[in-house]
Amino acid sequence: MYLIAPSILSADFTRLGEEVVNVIESGADWIHFDVMDNHYVPNMTIGPLVCKAIRPLTNAVIDVHLMARPVDRLIGDFARAGANVITFHPEASEHIDRSLSLIREHGCQAGLVFNPATPLHYMDYVMDKLDLVLLMGVNPGFGGQKFIPATLGKLQEARARIKEYEQESGHRIRVEVDGGVKVDNIAAIALAGADTFVAGSAIYEAGKESDPHRYDSVIASMRAQLARV
Ligand code: DX5
Ligand code: ZN
Repeated sequence: MYLIAPSILSADFTRLGEEVVNVIESGADWIHFDVMDNHYVPNMTIGPLVCKAIRPLTNAVIDVHLMARPVDRLIGDFARAGANVITFHPEASEHIDRSLSLIREHGCQAGLVFNPATPLHYMDYVMDKLDLVLLMGVNPGFGGQKFIPATLGKLQEARARIKEYEQESGHRIRVEVDGGVKVDNIAAIALAGADTFVAGSAIYEAGKESDPHRYDSVIASMRAQLARV
């Protein structure tokens, strides 16, 4: 039930295809794809063109995290580029309900992303339109930041709300966490309620670059930690 989603933000972009294939062969589940626009967040990364380029290399779910605005016009572009999951920040969309519906209309799973200071109430009236919620463990924009401890309490709160909704509706919603996830805190994060774990620097900067199996061991260590929960 636990999914590990390496963020290619920390991959070696000169060998991006290889980095995607290697990390999935090392036992990762999803590819987390960080889209930054220099407006919503102070950094700029990759777009639909790159998603389309990596799509044929793997059957793994491509989990597109939009840190960009406007949201709606990117949804179709990423769906056509092969995205399976599309999430966005409520502050970046004028019409949250409409953006969520648009994602599903394009055949993708839809999710909302909560920054450290974004209240969870944004999910209140759209639970039926959510396939996942993503809680940021850091302020979005950069890889390699330290996990903000208050995220644990927020995860518990999110999990409790979702559990209640799941029991009423029978509709399952994943709880994903992104930012600062490492081998030494993944168990605590799982215990607080997350089931899907994005990790950028912890995976892509693990071990020695010359070691072709360096992703195997970090992913195995994460799984071992999760098995103890
Ligand atoms: C941050 C991105 C994250 C980031 C995670 O804005 O959304 O996905 O790449 O990187 P780490 O795991 O290094 O915090
Ligand atoms: Zn992300």
